[in-house]
Amino acid sequence: MMKEVVFGERTFVPSISAEEIAKAVSRVAERINEDYAGRKPVFLIVLNGAFMFAADLLRQVTLDCTISCIKLSSYHGGLSSSGEVKELMGLDADLTGKDVIIVEDIVDTGLTMHGLIPQIKERGAASVEVCSFVHKPEMLRYEDARPKYIGLNIPNRFIIGYGLDVDEYARNLPEVYELKV
Ligand code: IMP
Repeated sequence: MMKEVVFGERTFVPSISAEEIAKAVSRVAERINEDYAGRKPVFLIVLNGAFMFAADLLRQVTLDCTISCIKLSSYHGGLSSSGEVKELMGLDADLTGKDVIIVEDIVDTGLTMHGLIPQIKERGAASVEVCSFVHKPEMLRYEDARPKYIGLNIPNRFIIGYGLDVDEYARNLPEVYELKV
């Protein structure tokens, strides 16, 4: 049974169970396996948030693929997007001619992916798609950032767990919780 969790002054209630997450992750992995059959994509995992989703997803990816982790300049805590384009850090892989799949925890307004996608294209990638664990479609402001692969669409609520944080905490929770209103 999932119970409420408390971080600082904020209380979060159960939102997405581990079972629902597992089903969503398997659906996404199957689609990627089909769409990229015969190709050798590069998965770019956006740290820190996507680490848990990526670990579960990639165990079910049966393609010959490579995996690189990147970081984007920090998201300044709080409960909404900072509104700044973030700088790409730590990319060591050669992306020339590669089919790149960006693995992200959440696409909210899309600003982060809107900023990142051109930086990947500039490095000569043949194709770039976004695979996000969750997406808040109501919040999307940048059409180019709409993820091709989405685990779950969710309403506009602040969520934590399964990689997603509140002030860097809660990333280790195996389920997703949403802010109690
Ligand atoms: P975007 O640039 O507006 O799409 O926001 C993406 C980033 O905002 C994510 O990578 C998260 O760091 C953060 N974010 C947006 N919504 C949430 C949420 O509900 N919980 C935790 N982080 C979030």
